Amino acid sequence: SSHLPRHFLSVTDIREAEARALFEQVANQKRGGAQGGGSDLPLQGQVWALLFRKPSTRTRVSFELAIRQLGGSALFLSAAELQLSRGEPMGDTACVLGRMVQGAIIRTFAQEEIETFARSSGIPTVNALTDQEHPCQVLADIFTFEEKRGPLSGKTVAFLGDASCNVARSWALAASLFRFQLRFGAPRAFFCDVENPWIVQTESAYEAVRDADLLYTDVWISMGREEESALREKAFAPYQLNRSLLRRAKADALVLHCLPAYRGKEIEGDLFEERARDIFDQAENRLHVQKGLLCWLTAR
Ligand code: CP
Ligand code: NVA
Repeated sequence: SSHLPRHFLSVTDIREAEARALFEQVANQKRGGAQGGGSDLPLQGQVWALLFRKPSTRTRVSFELAIRQLGGSALFLSAAELQLSRGEPMGDTACVLGRMVQGAIIRTFAQEEIETFARSSGIPTVNALTDQEHPCQVLADIFTFEEKRGPLSGKTVAFLGDASCNVARSWALAASLFRFQLRFGAPRAFFCDVENPWIVQTESAYEAVRDADLLYTDVWISMGREEESALREKAFAPYQLNRSLLRRAKADALVLHCLPAYRGKEIEGDLFEERARDIFDQAENRLHVQKGLLCWLTAR
């Protein structure tokens, strides 16, 4: 077709109304209704590549299943086994894949790399996590909150720990899209570089969680930051999500974690066990929301 492909490289690639329609479709599909997107098998006859430069459990499995359940097939490509590992440029890799497959899901380091891929390949391209963003995660997180507690707009989200990480940045961009207050509780050296009127950053974990509706955290040592482990564990220790902080939040506050979780580090072990059901619902929603996302990307 002559249409430019749709991409999902950043939270900012979707409009609020589109995300709302997507959430409605996902909720309907979870209730046993139709998939939406015009057909129940919008990816029939298509092959989508998953190109990963970092490890993954949830994102990989949920996308492989989502593609399959929508009628397509998934081709998993570990960057270490591609010519990329011997210096072939991402642009050339994109040109080749663009001639052979109908879409790409990419996990890598630099955001510029997925932008290059999207530009050069001419096929729908999805950010499956970069150093800058994890938009599929935050879309599923917001769906999960709304499924359990109702509209997020006007509510307060507290994010504790590494406010400079990919998941935090996607939350920051989502705050203005969905119009909720976002409070980062983090050491100043790890504040988020995204600024908008919906965000407050504080070095006080107590201040961050006060009367919050959602408490959220992510690993202290993101993939690729392993050499800073000692420094990070020391800096983030006062920002552990635990039951004593939870008491400062709203009585019905939800606790979410994108996983993998390191008990005793970013989240207290007992709190994790108490809230494990919600957290694994959140993980399952990656599959449901990404099916909706693939329908949105391919709908015309
Ligand atoms: N939360 C998340 O993206 O998990 P994976 O790294 O296992 O994909
Ligand atoms: N911030 C984490 C998210 C893992 C899903 C990382 O980048 O490793």
